[in-house]
Amino acid sequence: MELNRRSFLAGGTLFAAGALASGAQAEPAAPRKPASSPYHARGEETFTPQPIVKGLRRVVAEPVLQCPAPDSMGVAWAVSGFANGAVEFADNPQLQNATTVRCGGFGVTAFDDQALQVRLTGLKPGTRYWYRTITTTIANYKNSYSIQMGEPEAGDVHSFMTPGENAPARFCVMNDTHENWKQFGPIVEKILALKPSVTVWNGDATNTTEDKDHAVQTFLNPPVARKDYAADIPLLFTNGNHDFRGKWIRHLDEVMMPRLPSERSSRDWDLKRNFAIRLGDVAMIGLDTGEDKPDWHPKWMGLANFSPYRKAQTVWLEEALARREIDGAPYIVVFCHIPLFDSYPEANPGDRLENWADWQKECADLWGPLFARHGVQVVVAAHKHRYRFDPATAGRPWAQLVGGGPGKNPWNYPTVIAGDTAGGELKLTVHNILTGKVVGTHAFKPRRGILG
Ligand SMILES: [Fe+2]
Ligand SMILES: [Fe+2]
Repeated sequence: MELNRRSFLAGGTLFAAGALASGAQAEPAAPRKPASSPYHARGEETFTPQPIVKGLRRVVAEPVLQCPAPDSMGVAWAVSGFANGAVEFADNPQLQNATTVRCGGFGVTAFDDQALQVRLTGLKPGTRYWYRTITTTIANYKNSYSIQMGEPEAGDVHSFMTPGENAPARFCVMNDTHENWKQFGPIVEKILALKPSVTVWNGDATNTTEDKDHAVQTFLNPPVARKDYAADIPLLFTNGNHDFRGKWIRHLDEVMMPRLPSERSSRDWDLKRNFAIRLGDVAMIGLDTGEDKPDWHPKWMGLANFSPYRKAQTVWLEEALARREIDGAPYIVVFCHIPLFDSYPEANPGDRLENWADWQKECADLWGPLFARHGVQVVVAAHKHRYRFDPATAGRPWAQLVGGGPGKNPWNYPTVIAGDTAGGELKLTVHNILTGKVVGTHAFKPRRGILG
């Protein structure tokens, strides 16, 4: 595979095939590494080369890791013009014996002028992998048989660790970033300094998304110094209510990949964002509270369908909570955007004819009893743009921690919530990004009957 890796950079399979076609002496082909999954069985050397176009570069930002799972990882990156791409990954920083996965799945590979995506599969849990993107310009496209290809452009080598019961239980949460780039910069600087295994982006990443350009900037090429904000720390993304707004948001999968379908039964394939993974002693569960107004609200003009979505997630959740690796975890943390509890009796529960929801009653009614039955310790929510902590009570045995917002005043300020399990307990530390100070710490003992 080292031969394949070098040849890819020199024009890849294009040059290999071209040498044979012109009668030049070619090195004997290296034996192909057996594919570890159907997704990896690509890159056959059968492509007749076209003239190389020199000097065109397409990569505009670092890759963004997403949908981390014990055996898979998504990689997406922004490009400035039509390009095809691949990811090389290996279990060593030199990328020796790397596996190459081309974008676009089976059949003809993909090209796009804004974002490329590759899914790495067949990975081992709790294991570090090194990877880099390879981007090839597609220039002067006339038709399928008349395309000029650019020089393959290799990105920097990055690494990630897959989740798993043996992975370090360190995570960070950011939420309600709302495209406030002045604050997003320090938020991601803080996360990079804390070095978590994963970052949960707990909704309202966007405001309203009317075209793909906008989504690519928000997720893959944010206007901040650290374009590598998720190049080594994968994102677990949960939708906020704003992340359902705008006509283009219906195509968000083209930028933020859905979970791999094989993570769930075919019954639940439409639940594209829910996750239930182990990160060391912590089981992390992602739920989607949806929009903040009921489906029958006149503002939706009949276009909203969130209530069935919440019910379908409930069926998935009940099974996810019963899975061995989730039920056996010393800690269970749920992440969702809209809070599932509010202490103010007058708070809008999101099922009335009002303009927003302080909390999501339908989700609380559906999911709360399951949390209680399965020993969920804390729900990490967002949406209110104000940090607060609701301790567990006898009637609601799960606590709730609500992250901050995009303001800059004493009650609305951005937060990064850092979780880790040092010292035999789960500790959630809340950082105020405006002041740099810790504004709260919340500790949880291992679940009843389970030793940490
Ligand atoms: Fe928000
Ligand atoms: Fe929100």
